[in-house]
Amino acid sequence: MILGINDCSHDAAVSLVDNDKILFAGHSERYSRIKNDWYINDDIINDATSYGSPVNIAYYENRISKRFRKFIHGGLNGDYKKLYKKNIKSLKKIKEYQSDHHLSHACAGYYTSKFREATVVVVDAIGEFETATIWHATGSSLHKKYSLIYPVSFGLFYSAYTELLGLIPGTEEYILMGMAGFGNPKKYFSYINDSFPSFDHQVQNFHTGVNNFPFIIKSEQDKFDIAAAVQKVFENRLMEFMSFARNLTGCKNLVYMGGCALNCSANTRLIKHWDDIWIMPSPGDAGSSLGAALLYNQKHVLWDGPYLGHNIPGEYPVEKIISEITNKSIVAVASGRAEFGPRALGNRSILADPRDPNIKNIVNTVKNREKFRPFAPVVTEESASEWFEIDKPSPYMQYAVKCKRPEQIPSVVHVDGTSRVQTVNENQNPGLYHTIKEWEYRTGIPVLLNTSLNIKNEPLLNSQIDIIRWKKRNPHVKIV
Ligand SMILES: [Fe+2]
Repeated sequence: MILGINDCSHDAAVSLVDNDKILFAGHSERYSRIKNDWYINDDIINDATSYGSPVNIAYYENRISKRFRKFIHGGLNGDYKKLYKKNIKSLKKIKEYQSDHHLSHACAGYYTSKFREATVVVVDAIGEFETATIWHATGSSLHKKYSLIYPVSFGLFYSAYTELLGLIPGTEEYILMGMAGFGNPKKYFSYINDSFPSFDHQVQNFHTGVNNFPFIIKSEQDKFDIAAAVQKVFENRLMEFMSFARNLTGCKNLVYMGGCALNCSANTRLIKHWDDIWIMPSPGDAGSSLGAALLYNQKHVLWDGPYLGHNIPGEYPVEKIISEITNKSIVAVASGRAEFGPRALGNRSILADPRDPNIKNIVNTVKNREKFRPFAPVVTEESASEWFEIDKPSPYMQYAVKCKRPEQIPSVVHVDGTSRVQTVNENQNPGLYHTIKEWEYRTGIPVLLNTSLNIKNEPLLNSQIDIIRWKKRNPHVKIV
């Protein structure tokens, strides 16, 4: 039994793997209530080890290389003095193995996939030195075919512009992606494209942000236009890199991992170029806690879904949800095991009536987040293609596709006419599935609005204690 660990990094996480079964995977922040917590704490270790006793620890990256890179180039990093082994008594005596950062990403993707041959592409800001890698995976082995090395970096490019727009780099890239839908890329495209003219070459070193940006940002629309140009350049370079990867391995099954794989607008452009795609729902560094553990075993695991975190016991409250949405259009749900990854997929969600055009403002007010941010729909798998331009299940909100009936569900359609769809079937999440079936029976609409159960800049709710806090803070949105 292996305990995979990611800490001293921007999204500390723990995973527990036994042979071909994932017993636990969760984020540190949900226990400490510190958003993007960099460190492991006793509570998450206790929760993970309640599912079994690990005999080894697998750490998600090579600390010596990372320190060396920091020494030469600098960069954000956690304080290794706070390492979990120094703080958590129960782990001190367990032997630890270290992996390479990108190899952990690659293993988290490949060994949770259904593929026995795949092109594995990892794209993030930076690991030890690598910023993007391509692997050819066959059987239980992964062979590295290409490395992109710092300072060229897709992730640092995107994060630098995130910071330029006044957002938090390394955390709020998803807001830039949402802003892009409101902008026109034309005005800034040439300048931004020239700074990142090919996938293996950048004119600027984006590690230190966007330096000497030659335009004055005067308005919100300027920000939207910059975001649109950044998104377009990112997508174009990514498409070139993916084409290069496909030619390198000759295999058209794609496993895509790294923080950049959270960019659902870019992911959508990949669909038609590959026979099949797997993005593990926690593709960023937190997911690499799982990857490090899977590397230790070097074999595929049974993937039962992302509901791998803290458990709130009890039946999924189908009737209560329907009753609340019928009466008030909105309800908060905290039930079962928490999702591993940034998306709430029904167990720590706010669900709402997608037909109500005002519900967006209500939910945004509850969550205290920006008005322009879109909300996602969850739809039954069998009805998905009637409502969206989609021909395969999309269970983890990883693609943004055209909505076919935006006038009927206006609150879950982005300004560009797309929706970041989650499909659900009975096996995947029976409670959520039956909730939507009941909703469809009553309204004729097999769709609900689904957004994460949290307040802006706070982690998703995790435990029963968080439910009590929610009730005090948000008495007008019932939690069931
Ligand atoms: Fe990474």
